[in-house]
Amino acid sequence: MANFQLIVYGASSFVGQLLTRYLFERHGVNGELQWAIAGRSQSKLNELRQSLGSAAQALPIVLADANDEAALNAMCQQTKVVVSTVGPYALYGSTLVKVCAQTGTDYCDLTGEPQWIARMIEAHQATAQASGARIVHCCGFDSVPSDLGTYYLQQQAQQQFGQPCTQIKLRVKAIRGGLSGGTVGSMLELIKEASTNSALRKLMANPYALCPPTSSHKPKQANLQFAEYDKDAQAWSAPFIMAGINTKIVHRSNALSNYAYGTDFVYDETMLTGDGVLGGAVAVGAAIGMAGFVGAVAFPPTRHVLERFVLPKAGEGPSPKQQLNGFYDIRLIGFTASGQRLTAKVTGDRDPGYGSTAKILGEAAVCLALDVAKTAQAGGFWTPATVFGDKLISRLNQYAGLSFSLV
Ligand SMILES: NC(=O)c1ccc[n+]([C@@H]2O[C@H](COP(=O)([O-])OP(=O)(O)OC[C@H]3O[C@@H](n4cnc5c(N)ncnc54)[C@H](OP(=O)(O)O)[C@@H]3O)[C@@H](O)[C@H]2O)c1
Repeated sequence: MANFQLIVYGASSFVGQLLTRYLFERHGVNGELQWAIAGRSQSKLNELRQSLGSAAQALPIVLADANDEAALNAMCQQTKVVVSTVGPYALYGSTLVKVCAQTGTDYCDLTGEPQWIARMIEAHQATAQASGARIVHCCGFDSVPSDLGTYYLQQQAQQQFGQPCTQIKLRVKAIRGGLSGGTVGSMLELIKEASTNSALRKLMANPYALCPPTSSHKPKQANLQFAEYDKDAQAWSAPFIMAGINTKIVHRSNALSNYAYGTDFVYDETMLTGDGVLGGAVAVGAAIGMAGFVGAVAFPPTRHVLERFVLPKAGEGPSPKQQLNGFYDIRLIGFTASGQRLTAKVTGDRDPGYGSTAKILGEAAVCLALDVAKTAQAGGFWTPATVFGDKLISRLNQYAGLSFSLV
């Protein structure tokens, strides 16, 4: 019998600290949820516990370096679920996933690194299926609003029209937030690797890259590369930086749910920049800016300058005020095969990458620990929509400042 229902691994990371505070404020210590914090540095974890006040001193600490398989194994033996913020995951996350799959420990994280997810599925899917470990990547802003927003809209379409939407356009209507060193590190790692690896570039461009190899239904998907006017949203549209990972997760959810959204389902994500000449100019600027950023990171001299002087370092991120003033408003416009249209709205009350992500990840981890019985969901690599579905939507609506509704 495990000592804990949940261990927060990487509790001293930028987002791990927010997650720990959130769980502490929601669940306290020694309440309904038996949980602990973990990482490689006793002193950083002590400091974090200290910062939470005297009631937090009873919160247990577990030590394990990400490269120490024996220590990770000992950690997994003590808990039902591990939630990890130790990233970039492609650098530090592989041994933990392997150990979770072997020991039958449920796992969730914040990765947005598709090349690493693909490697983990290939290496450990059979082991996780045999041990009963449920592995759930992408439980932050990428890709929960996209994956659960799509799931939610499809449920509503089924209820209203008796059929799913064959097309969903996710449009980011408004968003405010900043970046942390950890996220920048993961993005740089990915762009750097892609600049010299053509197989990886192919994987990144493939919306079905995370679908099981047996899936055969693959209609052509839109992938906005520049600016265009979107008649359905009545606004200009530019590429959305998270679309690359989110679309892959949404298509994996469709494949894993036996094509609940249909075998001809098409899905894309863009960012709206407003109407009229100004909206068009902003869309063009955003598209050029994104392409310029990717180019600058792929080119070693400019990457060095960005890393050294411009971008946040590991452990840094948006201030509490920036987190509090952050928000997002996402629309999902769906069309059924018979031409009906339905729009859903997903909003969050903090900056997407940290304030909101920490709450989403916290609810996902607790949902995995308390709501999703081993008998109800087999082991293997799942997505947020396929493992959590309505249970997480209701937690996010109730506790985490998100709202899922029809427009
Ligand atoms: N999906 C999303 O929406 C989303 C949002 C935010 C962040 N993220 C991702 O989440 C991850 C964390 O981001 P962040 O900004 O919080 O990162 P961060 O502050 O740079 O923290 C990285 C963490 O990794 C730990 N670590 C590094 N090497 C380790 C090792 N060998 N053993 C054990 N721990 C080790 C560090 O430990 P110490 O504390 O001891 O130094 C630190 O706690 C990144 O991969 C980022 O891309 C995703």
